[in-house]
Amino acid sequence: MKIAFFSTQPYDRLFFDRENQDKRFVYQFYETHLGPHIVRAINDVEAVCVFVNDHVNREVIETLALRGVKIIALRCAGFNNVDLDAAREFGISVCRVPAYSPEAVAEHAMAMLLTLNRKTHKAYNRVREQNFSLNGLLGFNLHGKTIGVVGTGKIGKAFCRVSKGFGCKLLAFDIYEDAQVKQMGVSYVDIDSIYKSSDIISLHCPLTLENKHMISRESIQKMKDGVVLLNTSRGALIHTAAVIEGLKQHKIGGLALDVYEQEEKLFFKDLSDTIIEDDTIQRLMSFPNVLITAHQAFFTEEALTQIATTTLRNIEELLLGREPSIEDARLV
Ligand code: NAI
Repeated sequence: MKIAFFSTQPYDRLFFDRENQDKRFVYQFYETHLGPHIVRAINDVEAVCVFVNDHVNREVIETLALRGVKIIALRCAGFNNVDLDAAREFGISVCRVPAYSPEAVAEHAMAMLLTLNRKTHKAYNRVREQNFSLNGLLGFNLHGKTIGVVGTGKIGKAFCRVSKGFGCKLLAFDIYEDAQVKQMGVSYVDIDSIYKSSDIISLHCPLTLENKHMISRESIQKMKDGVVLLNTSRGALIHTAAVIEGLKQHKIGGLALDVYEQEEKLFFKDLSDTIIEDDTIQRLMSFPNVLITAHQAFFTEEALTQIATTTLRNIEELLLGREPSIEDARLV
């Protein structure tokens, strides 16, 4: 079974090699994204394995089908970058890793909140410079604060559990209410109540056509003054220009992003020697109360192991004509 991997990094090779000790798969690794520029180079593979920033649009899918590719395997949970209708039309199966480690993402969201609030990233640098002053490092207690969680699926639920441990009051909005979440003492409310009542808002819903730019000028105006926003889900949930405006007006008190709408040209690359042309991220990085990580919330040993195991199992089962044994893994 031959698989072409796109957007690969050294750690992808390491974890996928570990799961292929018996060499039942033949791998081709590409560093580049899958997109119209490379798709015609694909030859003699049954499956392509893609990640969050690969462009699997209609044009790409049509060419994949012409080249005999049977499976598009996402090694992630989100699938907003794949045209599922086109895959259906061209007879290509699409699978994903629906849950690899919700805790990895939830814990990272909390780590970002704690860092942003207690400014440990700044304190670390200060102390190394023998600056032991506390001025400018003032934070607030999480205990007793209201966190609004948007999307209470696997990651949102794990984030609720973590936040409960800090003694936070939890509000949630989801298009479906979850009984387990309610049992934790989380109250489901409408989205406007999340905006109005939350000290902290954390996004854990998938990106869809309906919720693109849900954090907009209008929704920000409904929020509490000094609200802290966390986005570890997908960049385009946030209208970045509106958030920059909110930060400049001191309406937004803190912003933690693990995802960014234009991340594709930046994230997962070492650009330390280059001139960044994206003025928006440069503006974001200039705020003292903005913390950005480069889509690393998933990045734990446990998650990467699970991603490799599940992806290979999905591909194997589909190529053998069986349904993936992992629930919700098959999209088409
Ligand atoms: P999930 O499918 O278990 O949960 C998603 C929840 O969002 C569901 O309860 C669903 O009903 C709800 N939802 C759907 N549309 C909504 C809307 N318009 N408003 C409010 N709620 C809505 O997914 P999971 O595993 O919890 O992942 C959530 C998202 O996290 C993924 O779609 C992905 O974009 C992102 N993610 C980010 C990672 C990172 O490294 N930063 C890693 C993994 C996932």
